[in-house]
Amino acid sequence: MTGASAGIGKATAKRFAENDDKVILIARQEKRLAQAAREIESSVPGADVEPLVLDMSDAESAGILRDRAGAAELPLGGLLCCAGAVPAPGDNDDGDVGPALTEWQEAYRSNVMTSVVAVEGLLPLMTDGGSIVLYSSIAAYRGSGGTGGYGAAKAALHSYVHTLATRLGPRGISANAIAPGYVADTDLFGGSLPAARETMLVRQTALGRAGAPADVAELGFYLCSKAGGYLTSQILQLNGGSSHGV
Ligand SMILES: NC(=O)c1ccc[n+]([C@@H]2O[C@H](COP(=O)([O-])OP(=O)(O)OC[C@H]3O[C@@H](n4cnc5c(N)ncnc54)[C@H](OP(=O)(O)O)[C@@H]3O)[C@@H](O)[C@H]2O)c1
Repeated sequence: MTGASAGIGKATAKRFAENDDKVILIARQEKRLAQAAREIESSVPGADVEPLVLDMSDAESAGILRDRAGAAELPLGGLLCCAGAVPAPGDNDDGDVGPALTEWQEAYRSNVMTSVVAVEGLLPLMTDGGSIVLYSSIAAYRGSGGTGGYGAAKAALHSYVHTLATRLGPRGISANAIAPGYVADTDLFGGSLPAARETMLVRQTALGRAGAPADVAELGFYLCSKAGGYLTSQILQLNGGSSHGV
């Protein structure tokens, strides 16, 4: 599980731990990752979680992760690539393209490369019949702030999901993406959103509330379960009705 030290990834790791699955927790900041592992261990008796500090946008992380996952000597049935970040906006309207390029590079590095490195690095270890889950966003459909790098990076994952599903289908491996709307209680927005923006996002939902990390965790767990085994090559929008699915 990449991006496991906060928000959606941490809740998802906990959901798997509750099912007695061993979970490798991956993120860059050691202290926060260790804290997340402790939290899961204290709330789930017997939880088998292993923190691993890695920047998943670095190519070298693939081999390190493969070695660590291989050393666990357990079947690797699920790979959830939740690492992601919203880059600083690069729009300045003065004709200087530097900030825009930085925004797009950072958006792709954090949201696309982190998934590509994890998936391509771990594929040799994945069991036939396993599941890959990537994390998109409602921004892939609606656009995002700045010059739109974040939304574009998330949309790129949709194409990657379809490619993976076709490529790995013969091995019975499913590949799907979850595209959440606004999910509260995460660190994605640097703590909290301005109150007016949060109110507006909640008003857009049909259910009248923000998503919770546990809502997204439940769907990730389902996609990796036997019950979700025939679901592949899908982008699952999970947004409380903020936008109408097609
Ligand atoms: N919250 C929302 O409203 C929302 C909506 C739509 C989509 N999403 C997507 O859902 C996913 C989880 O978001 P969240 O809200 O739970 O965010 P979050 O609370 O900020 O957690 C992001 C996680 O990713 C890790 N991470 C970031 N870059 C990484 C890298 N290069 N290598 C390894 N780990 C990295 C972070 O830890 P370190 O910083 O320590 O590495 C952290 O564990 C993201 O992909 C996000 O884009 C979230």
